[in-house]
Amino acid sequence: AISEEINPDYLADEAEIITALLKLARTTEMLKDKIHDTALELVQSVRKQQQHSSGLHAFLQHYDLSSPEGVMLMCLAESLLRIPDSDTIDDVIADKLSSGHWEKHLNESDSLFVNASTWALMLTGKLIKPGDQTFNKNKRLIKKLFSRMEEPVLRAAIKSAITIIAHQFVMGRTIKEAIQRSEDSNTCRYSYDMLGEAALTSRDAEHYQQAYADAITRIGEQTHHADSLITRPSISVKLSALSPRYEYRQQDRAIREIATRLLSLAQLAKAADICLTIDAEESDRLTLSLEVFEHLYHDDTLAGWNGLGLAVQAYQKRALSVLKRLNRLSTDFGKQIPVRLVKGAYWDTEIKRAQEKGLQSYPVFTRKCHTDIAYLACARYLIEQCPNIYPQFATHNAHTIAYIFHHADQGAYEFQRLHGMGEELYNAVTSNDCFSIPCRIYAPVGKHAELLPYLIRRLLENGANTSFVNQVVHKDTCIETIISDPIMIADQLNEKSQQADIPLPKNLFARKRINSAGLNFADELEVKQLQQAIEQAAENDYTAAAYINGKTINAE
Ligand code: FAD
Ligand code: 2OP
Repeated sequence: AISEEINPDYLADEAEIITALLKLARTTEMLKDKIHDTALELVQSVRKQQQHSSGLHAFLQHYDLSSPEGVMLMCLAESLLRIPDSDTIDDVIADKLSSGHWEKHLNESDSLFVNASTWALMLTGKLIKPGDQTFNKNKRLIKKLFSRMEEPVLRAAIKSAITIIAHQFVMGRTIKEAIQRSEDSNTCRYSYDMLGEAALTSRDAEHYQQAYADAITRIGEQTHHADSLITRPSISVKLSALSPRYEYRQQDRAIREIATRLLSLAQLAKAADICLTIDAEESDRLTLSLEVFEHLYHDDTLAGWNGLGLAVQAYQKRALSVLKRLNRLSTDFGKQIPVRLVKGAYWDTEIKRAQEKGLQSYPVFTRKCHTDIAYLACARYLIEQCPNIYPQFATHNAHTIAYIFHHADQGAYEFQRLHGMGEELYNAVTSNDCFSIPCRIYAPVGKHAELLPYLIRRLLENGANTSFVNQVVHKDTCIETIISDPIMIADQLNEKSQQADIPLPKNLFARKRINSAGLNFADELEVKQLQQAIEQAAENDYTAAAYINGKTINAE
């Protein structure tokens, strides 16, 4: 039933879906002006605070994904954390750093930290060029120079730089450390996430489940039970951490395994008096995650507990259908559902996978303004039509925040941000007396080995030049562009350009050939159609023969 209700929009036409969402998101001229002014105020405040921001921020901004060197550093960060042996690490560093044009970046930044780092990167890159006659000599020289240290300094230095970047996004190595750090800050709401996802073995899944269980118990111990459930710290769980077979084709096993593990975590959360949110992951897992959610939502042992929530990604074409289902569920059953609305963190993966599979279209929007509009439409739906849903708006975008602020009643919702992101923006929100809206911080916890996928998503988000967080730090991007109204941008597009912004998967090799078509095995409706076609085909009589040059030969 879940598939029947939400999957008709799975790969729907982008323009058609957006036309419907636009109707929901459109607002009055008066509110539009107010939203503009609030967003402007927020961005001005962010820019003012950024004058005093850390060197690391400036570094991330300077080396974003719009320069080949930024991409190179990102590849380096991505590979270094998973290469086990030192020699390969040295070779990868040499390979990556030597091909960058670091000199172009010299003295391009106002920050001493960035310029010093650029010097270091440039000198390192010059010193170690693979293939060059002096490569091995220089590598030996570096090793000799620093021979008194246990690890070559170069490798250690670059690894520490990555550790610093990682520290920016991770709250603590252990839940104890993270809770301690949160107690040092003035923010009262946190949602802890134990890093680790996409379990490959049952042992991994058991290990992650244990980490979540320990964390829930600790968070419960720290919680002030006088506060209401929704204001207490909470836990966020990735279902991919709880089963190595979290995929549609293994749905029976996946639902059984994940529902059992998640139920025991939810029972612990209920006992600890805190909320548990299911994170949203890749789109081919959406129906499975809803199955698991509904299973637990109706479980008798969780009766009377309003803390089971989930994240919904607005960039998926099915987002509004999902919310409509959750709305009905919460109204029929009379139990509150906390819903975290996000835009979605797996955009690049979604696009790539749809292309690889040769799907008829993409499961996500392909224009940034369409995702923004979908978010606003879903927000309006949650605010105006879902009495039993507690909305949690997770965004780092000033226009999105201002839009919600001017449409929702105070006290009826919360904002959320990621640890290490959007700090200045929410300083501006919370320091403004008119706002007084609480903001929860999503706080990842874990050691380096488990950090990689999360870190890469954050680097992609910070590095993409369409992201609010990226634009706001570039001083030459004018504020009016940063806070532009996505509805206005969409209105200015003609009908044709409201379609997908990138070629559909079948047109990927447009000039040469049509891409081979694939089936969407994550869509129950499509799989059923395939089964029916197979059954019908089995009833036909067939003749086997060679078919050569348009002629059937030796038919039997
Ligand atoms: P903006 O800069 O306004 O939007 C950036 C987003 O726009 C991108 O992330 C992408 O979704 C979308 N986008 C970018 N380019 C395009 C394009 N060409 N076409 C269409 N869309 C595009 N994400 C999850 O997936 N699952 C979660 O469970 C989850 N939990 C979160 C919890 C919290 C507390 C927070 C703050 C974020 C969470 N996220 C999660 C991450 C979230 O999806 C991203 O941080 C968010 O998309 C960034 O949106 P924004 O409004 O802050 O920024
Ligand atoms: C992610 O893991 C925050 O859930 C989001 O990217």
